[in-house]
Amino acid sequence: MTPNTLDQARVEEFAGNVLETYTRSIVTLMIDLGYRTGLFESAAQGPTTSEGLAERAGLQERYVREWLAAMTTAGIVEFDATARTYTLPAEHAACLTGPGAANLAPLARVTTHLAEHVPRVASAFREGGGVPYSEYRPEFTNVMDSVSRNFFDEHLVERVVPLAPGLPERLAAGARVADVGCGTGHAVVLLAKAFPGSTFVGYDLAEDAIAQARAEAAEAGADNAYFEVRDAAKLTADPPYDAVLTFDCIHDQADPAGVLERINAMLVPGGNYVMMEPAASSLLEENVANPVAPLLYGVSTLHCMTVSLASGGVGLGTAWGAQMTREYLAHAGFGPVLAYDAPDDPLDTIFVTHKPETTEP
Ligand SMILES: C[S@@+](CC[C@H](N)C(=O)[O-])C[C@H]1O[C@@H](n2cnc3c(N)ncnc32)[C@H](O)[C@@H]1O
Repeated sequence: MTPNTLDQARVEEFAGNVLETYTRSIVTLMIDLGYRTGLFESAAQGPTTSEGLAERAGLQERYVREWLAAMTTAGIVEFDATARTYTLPAEHAACLTGPGAANLAPLARVTTHLAEHVPRVASAFREGGGVPYSEYRPEFTNVMDSVSRNFFDEHLVERVVPLAPGLPERLAAGARVADVGCGTGHAVVLLAKAFPGSTFVGYDLAEDAIAQARAEAAEAGADNAYFEVRDAAKLTADPPYDAVLTFDCIHDQADPAGVLERINAMLVPGGNYVMMEPAASSLLEENVANPVAPLLYGVSTLHCMTVSLASGGVGLGTAWGAQMTREYLAHAGFGPVLAYDAPDDPLDTIFVTHKPETTEP
């Protein structure tokens, strides 16, 4: 096709889309800045000038004013040109502030963090292999903590645990539970505090994450929470567990099928398995209409897939999807699978299943 035969309107429309994409990616970094500096929390206190906001947040006014200009032109903050005041509307504050799972601001850190790894991932495109998990730490550990902490605080005990049939009763009666790929262990600490008669063990490869988890458990007085640096590929079933949880961990694995088989082997017959994984279809064509699918595939390329490939793994990818998840669970020996949308989290699905009793058909 020569320039003369190009549909110029389509070219211009697409060029506009590209520029809009670049604009939004920079806005993401500005949201990260607002999150890190506490500017959203300060702005949510009410309309103010740039000087007023800088004073509230204890920051330099010139930086705050430039950030406010970006926020205003991005449609996040409203500007009153007469009063020279800026307002974070309550509806926007609901999405960018507070300790709840609805606060999307921490998610902006993912973009900032993964952007640092673009050059290394580009090399892997040429040379094969991948970027190992260790190269993402310690920043990755802290980014993941800030992304999932609010979700666990708000929903783990009240909404996630009850999805697994019989699990609340087991935990109340006293059960042995593992969180595989527990990161900084916040989920384990919350469960340990909520169910003091049960024992919880968090496993993770990351020494920095396990150190943070132990510190948090000690500070919380959760003496029924234990943590161990352990590769999920080397988990043992001695003694067996009544329930295993994995949050956003299986798709990263070098050998996800092997890890799922180990998890199945770790469980008592009838034991629960609760698995949170990114919400997607296994078929690209079914993800085209999903507005967050590019986020999943992008995070996959820049982290989840490449860490698996780095250790010679299968590189499932973040969007390995519900159909493949069910196949893997069946292959690992699990029973029927129920799938739920993760509360307040459009990016994840919670799969609930169990290890069949030997007498089950
Ligand atoms: C995406 S993060 C999720 C962390 C935590 N579950 C959360 O939701 O915040 C995945 C975690 O799994 C851990 N991980 C990945 N592969 C692992 C393996 N083979 N064995 C143990 N942990 C692993 C990583 O170190 C990381 O902490």
